[in-house]
Amino acid sequence: MNPYLPEKATIAEIREETSGARPIKTFKVVLHNGHAFNQKPGQCAMVGILRVGESMISIASSPTQREYLEFSIMKLGKVTSALHACEAGETITLRGPYGNGFPIAAWKGKNIVTIGGGIGQAPLRPIVQYILDNRDDFEQFDIIYGARSVNDLCYKSELFELEKRNDLKVHLSIDTADPDWKRFVGFVPNNVLRIKPSPENTIAITCGPPIMIKYVIHNLLELGFSEQQIFTTLENRMKCGIGKCGRCNVGNFYVCKDGPVFNYATLKNLPEFD
Ligand SMILES: Cc1cc2nc3c(=O)[nH]c(=O)nc-3n(C[C@H](O)[C@H](O)[C@H](O)COP(=O)(O)OP(=O)(O)OC[C@H]3O[C@@H](n4cnc5c(N)ncnc54)[C@H](O)[C@@H]3O)c2cc1C
Ligand code: FES
Repeated sequence: MNPYLPEKATIAEIREETSGARPIKTFKVVLHNGHAFNQKPGQCAMVGILRVGESMISIASSPTQREYLEFSIMKLGKVTSALHACEAGETITLRGPYGNGFPIAAWKGKNIVTIGGGIGQAPLRPIVQYILDNRDDFEQFDIIYGARSVNDLCYKSELFELEKRNDLKVHLSIDTADPDWKRFVGFVPNNVLRIKPSPENTIAITCGPPIMIKYVIHNLLELGFSEQQIFTTLENRMKCGIGKCGRCNVGNFYVCKDGPVFNYATLKNLPEFD
């Protein structure tokens, strides 16, 4: 079978997450063939539009949800702008799932802290939903998430609902003050230092802009986390998505196949990461 042959899917629903110069929309899509994607949290798919192109996008819906897939997409260039111009009912294409995903089964019995910034909450959302669907398998669960402004926060209403639950803690932040914002104001790495998650039996997963990831990891190490307890994702430019074209390689790894999830103990030795 041709591995580049995509499946057709219908956009069932489009939600506007953020507005502004680089808006983010979440697309709920249903595969025409009715097959489940059987993805793991942290895996991605090549999302495409015929005669325009394809982009690698994290699957933002829970692996426990088999009827549809969700992708939260920031409007940047050719493909993502064409996707943003689509309406519900239109057909797009999907290839995947690709990548290694988070080793979430191995985290059973542990405390989990997810640390996201901006669109970086998209690959973390399936972890959140997976843990909520299997709540007894995990101990303390903290969601740390921030964006530049209230307008730039993804999944706002979902996160505000989660704040009301007593079986997890949600710590939201924005970078600059807003008169209506009563939560933390400051950068995500500073919020991590303020919250001080305990490294005891804990896994920390961080996704977001590279500068945020760098300082979050620095602060986690300062709090006593070991390199093995910290996971993140890389977003190198990709073309084939299946380890053939060499576009995404870093050190000895193809990010599309061996990543995008990396443990910091591995990542810190890669030439492009400091
Ligand atoms: C593993 C992985 C997961 C991703 N998950 C998501 C996601 O969940 N949501 C989302 O919105 N985006 C995600 N991306 C980024 C997404 O693939 C790119 O934004 C998209 O391919 C841009 O395509 P385009 O044709 O619209 O832009 P292009 O016309 O190709 O480029 C427009 C601008 O975006 C920059 N750009 C393109 N691709 C990337 C990239 N990978 N990293 C940084 N800058 C880039 C270009 O340098 C250029 O400045 C992910 C990327 C990877 C590799
Ligand atoms: S995108 Fe082609 S090898 Fe990774």
